[in-house]
Amino acid sequence: MSQGIVSVSYIGATILFILALGGLSNPETARRGNLYGIVGMGIALLATIFGVVTANYGLLLGGLAIGGIIGFVLARRVQMTQMPELVAILHSLVGLAAVLVGFANFMDPTVQLVGVDLVIHDIETYIGILIGAVTFSGSIIAFGKLSGKIGGKPLILPARHWFNLILVLAMIWLATQFVEGSEVGEGLTPLLIMTGIALVLGIHMVMAIGGADMPVVVSMLNSYSGWAASATGFMLSNDLLIVTGALVGSSGAILSYIMCRAMNRKFLAVIAGGFGTSGGTTVSGEDQGEVVPINAAEVAGLLADAKEVMIVPGYGMAVAQAQHIVYEITRVLRDKGVNVRFGIHPVAGRMPGHMNVLLAEARVPYDIVFEMDEINEDFPDVDVSVIIGANDIVNPSAQDEPNSPIAGMPVLEVWKGRTTIVLKRSMATGYAGVQNPLFFKENTRMLFGDARESLDAVLKNL
Ligand code: TAP
Repeated sequence: MSQGIVSVSYIGATILFILALGGLSNPETARRGNLYGIVGMGIALLATIFGVVTANYGLLLGGLAIGGIIGFVLARRVQMTQMPELVAILHSLVGLAAVLVGFANFMDPTVQLVGVDLVIHDIETYIGILIGAVTFSGSIIAFGKLSGKIGGKPLILPARHWFNLILVLAMIWLATQFVEGSEVGEGLTPLLIMTGIALVLGIHMVMAIGGADMPVVVSMLNSYSGWAASATGFMLSNDLLIVTGALVGSSGAILSYIMCRAMNRKFLAVIAGGFGTSGGTTVSGEDQGEVVPINAAEVAGLLADAKEVMIVPGYGMAVAQAQHIVYEITRVLRDKGVNVRFGIHPVAGRMPGHMNVLLAEARVPYDIVFEMDEINEDFPDVDVSVIIGANDIVNPSAQDEPNSPIAGMPVLEVWKGRTTIVLKRSMATGYAGVQNPLFFKENTRMLFGDARESLDAVLKNL
């Protein structure tokens, strides 16, 4: 394949990736966006395999087959509730690839550079490995936290900011040692030490982040994985990798910013860790009075008599896979003339857009699904709010308890409606680990049980 065809293919793939990102910004165009991404990646792969690679085809195809089969099986098996963990572990693979390619490139005897070219190449290698290692270890910890294998509580070491600063300064000093050493054919030792330090930094950074702030971490690691790929692109002089990495890196950074705004957090403060450290003492685990249970027939009665219904889904809806039955109930109520709307919190569930994806899958019309900012002021006019497996995102202690781990996080003010019905299985806390005073309010009714089974019974009674 000629260099010209490779360049044209790369430009085509880049355009398709940009179209993919544009498409993914809206549920209505998300499928098309996905398709653009798949075609773009197909073109990129073919152009690289037949236009850039010149030898070792057996090794390449063997790797592709093994990786492809593992990816295929994983993607088919993964449950919707496991998607965030899958995304985290995939980020870790991007980081690992950047580290391995960096070392392979550094040790490649055919790379013969001198003077400024060598220094620039060394810096690219160093940065690629550094970001890759932080992404790798950070993503593994994020995987552990999201899958519940590691507790959600932040690890707060004494003088943790100093610890981070010392690690960063050590890596800067090692960079100078590496660049100097590399000129005389050495440099592997500082590179290896830096990799170890970067791995520790990645672990420490994510361990220090509290449960409720995990959304920022997921998007931040997404961004890091992009920058790691981009740095690898510079190292390998591969334009497509540079552009693709930059697209992932910058879109991840924008998503992190959106998540921080949604959580009312400062980006740097989340990264430095420590949110969620003082909380838990005031409200966590303590009972705050009596809760009032309700049964499915009573819920059906309240819904049928209502004019304004607001449905607030959370992680529990994903666990129960209740989105289809939610849609059925919505349809029946709308047929009866009830105005049904959905209120979506930006960090509901376990990944950005989690609820929107589920509702789109169940074919809930997009025009009745609203972002938190669009509908939060409407709750005083709502007759019945139905909270389906949501907890932290409707917790009033975010506003009332300055010591709570979720203090300051904007929440859906469902308690301002006439009646609030909460569907969950027990009195267990949500992801942030704090009890929810909403459950004990006078106008709250608890419908205990698996959300899908409970809603099934409600539908039968409607
Ligand atoms: P959570 O606060 O985690 O609450 C979910 C609730 O669903 C739980 O209290 C649970 O109570 C209930 N539940 C679980 N399975 C259920 C089932 N089968 N049927 C009925 N109820 C069920 O969820 P949320 O309100 O959506 O808030 C999201 C939280 O996750 C926030 O703290 C957020 O910061 C964090 N987080 C979000 C993301 C992103 S990007 N969205 C990423 C990481 C972390 P029972 O066990 O009693 O049923």
